Amino acid sequence: MAEPLLQARGITKRFGGKAAVDGLDLALFPGEILGLVGPDGAGKTTAIRLLCGALRLDEGEVTLMGLDLRRQVDRAREHIGYLSQRFSFYEDLSVMENLRFFAEIRGLSGVEWGPRANEILAFVGLAEFTERRAGKLSGGMRQKLGLASALVHRPKLLLLDEPTGGVDPVTRQDFWQLIIRMVRQEGVGVIISTPYMDEATRCSRVALLQNGRAVAEDTPENLRRRLAGRIVEVRGAPLAALRAAAAGLPGVADVQAFGDRLHVRLAAAEPETAIAALRAVLAGTDIRLDDARAIAPQLEDVFMAYAGRGEIQDA
Ligand SMILES: Nc1ncnc2c1ncn2[C@@H]1O[C@H](COP(=O)(O)OP(=O)(O)OP(=O)(O)O)[C@@H](O)[C@H]1O
Ligand SMILES: [Mg+2]
Repeated sequence: MAEPLLQARGITKRFGGKAAVDGLDLALFPGEILGLVGPDGAGKTTAIRLLCGALRLDEGEVTLMGLDLRRQVDRAREHIGYLSQRFSFYEDLSVMENLRFFAEIRGLSGVEWGPRANEILAFVGLAEFTERRAGKLSGGMRQKLGLASALVHRPKLLLLDEPTGGVDPVTRQDFWQLIIRMVRQEGVGVIISTPYMDEATRCSRVALLQNGRAVAEDTPENLRRRLAGRIVEVRGAPLAALRAAAAGLPGVADVQAFGDRLHVRLAAAEPETAIAALRAVLAGTDIRLDDARAIAPQLEDVFMAYAGRGEIQDA
């Protein structure tokens, strides 16, 4: 197997005695997209800030391309592009002027940054807007400028902290196309935090974070496989009563509502038994059952399973 681009071992950060990141291990290989997924306060931002050297480690170690982040942080940073969760621009400066600013703080000279700025703005689709003031950009354009500014010095590792927060779905798709194209073209490794499961599904691997720890880490496909045969989708009305009835059945671990459907998660893989039990319980009541069937688990189901219990019992 190739050398990891980045390796983090046992990284820990405490604030006021409480661990925000708690003994986390992560590895990232070139050309991979690693997703950090977890609820508010799970430690995603803290982990990313530890990985780029913006925060000092309390424990553990991070190696980036053979460089020890604690001892060689300046050299390591040359290879890191970081887009923070609350990035901002100089609103009165143009797209190009903002990019120039980021290039200069990265130490790029005028001869270097000019061609690179044009290349990267063309790549993200902002070539026609170089003179526009940052304050006049749409949400999607700001995202693209953020990506351009993180990439201006050709980093090998790109750290993106919820880059698509608050952006509409179409713009999010656009942004992901860019990330995927960049990974393919430049062989960059990406670590991205996201609250969106559809984005997590696009990652090479996903780490589910909770209380600063990775409760699971695998490819999206393998994570879904852990719940194979254990999700029954149920439709009917009234939903609240249906949910209560399903939750009370033996062998049901929990029930989540997804819009007008319920996902019933079973403690063991026997969907037929659970569906028969549900029909029996509902017989003679006013609760209507329109459909009940075993479905392929989604990443949401896996996430909820870990969020609820902190672990998934093997079937
Ligand atoms: N500078 C800080 N001082 C004190 N506590 C902090 C600090 N930064 C983070 N924390 C705490 O550490 C924990 C993890 O926070 P972090 O911001 O890393 O979570 P997150 O997963 O990025 O959450 P979100 O989804 O809201 O962005 C939280 O309990 C938070 O309150
Ligand atoms: Mg955060």
